[in-house]
Amino acid sequence: MIQVKTHRVALYPGDGIGVDVTDAAVAVLQAAQSVIGGFALEFERFDWGVNHHAKHGEVAPANLLDVLRPFDAIFLGAVGFPERLPDHETLVPLIKIRQGFDQYACVRPARTFPGVPSLLAGYKGIDMVVVRENSEGEYVNNGGRFRVGQPEESAIQTAMHTRSGVERILRHGFELARTRRSRLTMITKSNAQKFSFVMWDEILEEMRADYPDVETDKQHVDAAAMNFVRRPEHFDVVVASNLFGDILSDLSGAITGSLGLNPSANLNPDRHFPSLFEPVHGSAPDIAGQGIANPVAAVLSGAMMLEWLGETKAAASIRSAVEDSLAAKESTPDVGGSLTTDKATGAIVERL
Ligand code: NAI
Ligand code: MG
Repeated sequence: MIQVKTHRVALYPGDGIGVDVTDAAVAVLQAAQSVIGGFALEFERFDWGVNHHAKHGEVAPANLLDVLRPFDAIFLGAVGFPERLPDHETLVPLIKIRQGFDQYACVRPARTFPGVPSLLAGYKGIDMVVVRENSEGEYVNNGGRFRVGQPEESAIQTAMHTRSGVERILRHGFELARTRRSRLTMITKSNAQKFSFVMWDEILEEMRADYPDVETDKQHVDAAAMNFVRRPEHFDVVVASNLFGDILSDLSGAITGSLGLNPSANLNPDRHFPSLFEPVHGSAPDIAGQGIANPVAAVLSGAMMLEWLGETKAAASIRSAVEDSLAAKESTPDVGGSLTTDKATGAIVERL
């Protein structure tokens, strides 16, 4: 008998459309498993989120890292339902996972698809990946407030950039560029922040010698924002600090057509801990329960997960099934189609 590799995946569907798109991704992953074969997926579902909070007084159990650690990967739908619970509470488990599992590379591919118009007139085709430093930088929450509420109140919030942190995210970007069009653009603001981002500049300079085959350039974040709109076809792999990567990855997603198309991965490249895969979009309370959420972002996040788990053939098949279905307008209303989430998912499965 042929030995098949089993991958254990924890599902955290979350709230709102997170649940619908997780179901969609699982349906496509299971179809890929039976059509392509050679591997098996074992899912375990955790119904954490606002409903869990209503019943148990917490969004997720305090020991969620212990619960998730044994898995090979984590798949998340989306979290948040501001009408029922403030975002800073629903987001806690997700942040705990990203930090606790040292998922320092947030990888967000953004591309255009035949059949889906970009927001940009006259675009030539967008195919880029924003690699955001996900563990330090501007989001370390280091600082404090002084004389709170008084007229002379002050607040200090400092960023922290470490050499090892910058090196490891750039290395991830370089390696990724090698599998694509071999171009890396590093985003900083080193003209205005001359300690942190001049260090980024120096580290890039040093590392370029290790990757002579990768073409590099540097852009300040303001120029990059303009160029994402003006000539997005220039970009291949874009490496940015936590804050800049956060902003630019929303922009890269938006220009390609719909938030409903963009997948993402929060990777622990050292593979000491499971990595987490999720659509870029949130729980979309405005369309929750209507059955019209675009499943593509979640399905492509599933493909990224399979790729990470070594199932490259199945990942490629899912991607081309998605491309074919979008080109045939077998899609949801956000990208100009008229199908429900279930029907659009069924169309992808059919094309597999
Ligand atoms: P959102 O991404 O949920 O929605 C923004 C807009 O895009 C809405 O009009 C929505 O209908 C549309 N949209 C999003 N995904 C779609 C899809 N798959 N198909 C069709 N249309 C789609 O962002 P918003 O409204 O700012 O946040 C809603 C909630 O989601 C908040 O609680 C927020 O904190 C949370 N959120 C969670 C994230 C996560 O789980 N990682 C990421 C972003 C937001
Ligand atoms: Mg963001």
